[in-house]
Amino acid sequence: MAASVTIPRLFAMKEKQEKIVAVTAYDYAFAHLADAAGIDVLLVGDSLGMVVQGRANTLPVTMDEMIYHTAMVARAARRALVIGDMPFMAYQVSTAEAIRNAGRFIKEAGAAAVKLEGGAAVSPLIQAITDAGIPVQAHIGLTPQSVHQMGGYRVQRDEARLLEDALRVEQAGAFSVVLEGIPSAIATKISRKVRIPTIGIGAGPDCDGQILVLHDLLGLSERHVPKFVKQYRTLAAEVRQGLTEYGDEVRGGGFPAPEHCY
Ligand code: KIV
Repeated sequence: MAASVTIPRLFAMKEKQEKIVAVTAYDYAFAHLADAAGIDVLLVGDSLGMVVQGRANTLPVTMDEMIYHTAMVARAARRALVIGDMPFMAYQVSTAEAIRNAGRFIKEAGAAAVKLEGGAAVSPLIQAITDAGIPVQAHIGLTPQSVHQMGGYRVQRDEARLLEDALRVEQAGAFSVVLEGIPSAIATKISRKVRIPTIGIGAGPDCDGQILVLHDLLGLSERHVPKFVKQYRTLAAEVRQGLTEYGDEVRGGGFPAPEHCY
C-alpha cells in the first residue's frame, strides 16, 4: 500500500506538480472504495445535507451529524487524508466555540484536519484553530453556506477580492484552500500566487488538485448537476434497475431460488 497522505505530502505534490485527487465521502462503504482507488483526500463535506439527507441546502447540518459521518469515513481510510467540514454556525459564534468544534473532528471522529468556508473575514479564526494544533483547509469563492448572502449559487468573479482572500487564509496558516465556482483564469493566478495547495471545484484545470461531490461524479443521485461536474458513472440507473429486478423476482416467486436456501 502506498504511504499515507499527510499535509507535508500535499505540499510536496504541489511542488512536484503532481495533481491532488480529492472526493467527498460520507460513510464507511464508499470511503473504503475511494481510499482503495487511491484518492488522496476524503472530505466529509457538509454537502451531505443535500446528497445524503435530502435537504435543500447545507445550512441545517449539525456538528453531531458531521461527527457521526466523519467517524465512519475515518474508520475506512487507510491512506487518504480525512478532512471534516465545519457546518454552518459551528465556527461563527465565538473563537472558543470554533476551536472546540474543530477539536471534536480530531478527538471524536478521527479526522486529520478541518475545513471552513470564508476568506479574509475568517482568517483570525483560521489562525486561532491552527494555533490550537488543528490543520485548517480554507474554502473561498462560491461558499455554499452563504447561499442567501450570494443570492444563489453564483460563480464569483471579483478577482481582487478572491486574490486577497487566498493570501489572507494562507497568511493565517491554512494548509490548503478550496477554490469553488471561480473562472479558470482567476484560479490559475491564485494557484500560482499561493504556496499552499489549491483544490478546485468548478475552478478550471490549473488548480493543484480537484474535488467533486461523490454522488455527482458517480451519478448516484438523480438531481441536477452543475456544469463543472463530470459524471464518470450513472449508478442511479444501475441501482434502480437492480432493485426493480429484485422486486419483480420476489413478487414473481423467482427469488429466493433453491441455491439461496438452506
Ligand atoms: O461540502 C462539500 O462537499 C464541499 C466540497 C464540495 C468542496 O465543501
